[in-house]
Amino acid sequence: MILLVNGPNLNLLGEREPEVYGATTLHDIEKMVAEACAAYGRVVRPFQSNHEGAVIDFIQENRKDALGLIVNPGAFTHTSYALHDCLKSLSFPVVEVHISNVHAREEWRRKDLIAPATKGQIVGLGQAGYYYAAIWLCTQAADPVRGEYDADGGPVEVDPDDVRVDESPPVVGGDYEG
Ligand code: DQA
Repeated sequence: MILLVNGPNLNLLGEREPEVYGATTLHDIEKMVAEACAAYGRVVRPFQSNHEGAVIDFIQENRKDALGLIVNPGAFTHTSYALHDCLKSLSFPVVEVHISNVHAREEWRRKDLIAPATKGQIVGLGQAGYYYAAIWLCTQAADPVRGEYDADGGPVEVDPDDVRVDESPPVVGGDYEG
């Protein structure tokens, strides 16, 4: 199971600053990620909140079932030591996604307190960033059934006889204009 967490104001995607964040709604993004993961036999558990504690509670409560986390922390990216600590405690990889290129915007958006607690970031590729994060997490799971990771978050060794080839996932076009 893959967790998909979105922080404050991302519930307003589609109507919020469409010139920056595009016209796609959060519901559309959750559906796209669910479809991408389904191609790898993975289920997605999505969550959005405008409240820092609620985001942390959700991640903690679901951590035992998860193989990976896709998180767009919204403005908590720039403010939340608590979310940083929460992500540090996880035993599975975390991919941070930002729809806009935070490095090409206001100076304060360049401060990212979350990045050091993640495996990596996808920044500025619009909604497609969620898709690429989903594919990366799914393909990292070495065992298609159990999805085990080694201590570094990399794939465990697989017996070549056990490898199954999945159908190619759908290509997603972004509508991001920023
Ligand atoms: C964002 C970038 C943040 O700076 C901002 O506060 C958001 C969205 C993005 O996806 O580009 O809410 O995380």
